[in-house]
Amino acid sequence: MIDDRIRWNLKYKEGRKSSLHRTLLEFYHLAKGKKALDIACGTGENAIFLAKKGFDVIAFDVSDIAIKIARKKAKYEKVKVKFKVCDALKFSFGEESYDLILNFFFLERKIFLKIIKALKKEGILIFETYNEEHTNIKPNFNQKYLLKKGELLKAFYNLEILYYCEVRNITTLIARKP
Ligand SMILES: C[S@@+](CC[C@H](N)C(=O)[O-])C[C@H]1O[C@@H](n2cnc3c(N)ncnc32)[C@H](O)[C@@H]1O
Repeated sequence: MIDDRIRWNLKYKEGRKSSLHRTLLEFYHLAKGKKALDIACGTGENAIFLAKKGFDVIAFDVSDIAIKIARKKAKYEKVKVKFKVCDALKFSFGEESYDLILNFFFLERKIFLKIIKALKKEGILIFETYNEEHTNIKPNFNQKYLLKKGELLKAFYNLEILYYCEVRNITTLIARKP
């Protein structure tokens, strides 16, 4: 959405950076193949990490500024990542396309089914974002971007859950497509 782009571009102009997530370091090795997708990739740290590990990565974000920074970083690091400026609701996820899908700190419930379809058989989903406890830390945080208790377990019930936890304000799910 155009609003998301304006809002996030402002943050990236102010110097915001995304970060490499420990959950990725812990679980990426579960993927059996090397085709990966990073949804709402921000400035690309996680996608670049995967590319360095030999993955063929597509990574998209609605913010053209974030993607510009990500492309620059990938060039500097001498790795290839297919970075795209795209809204999650418009991205063509395809079917049985990815061995690994990352969804870090982004919540768009309308793409849940597309994520499931886009995983290859035995493909791994790594999903981590804030839950409702987050309002204890940031009272003004928009509730629609916060997971409810057990929400990911329900949404991805038809995947094999390999790991799930809700610790304080963060929920993590690692799942495999049967
Ligand atoms: C909290 S950041 C997370 C970035 C990165 N995944 C990470 O964990 O470091 C949320 C990201 O979602 C992107 N975003 C917001 N709305 C989006 C949309 N509708 N489609 C695609 N990306 C979107 C923002 O530009 C921002 O980069």
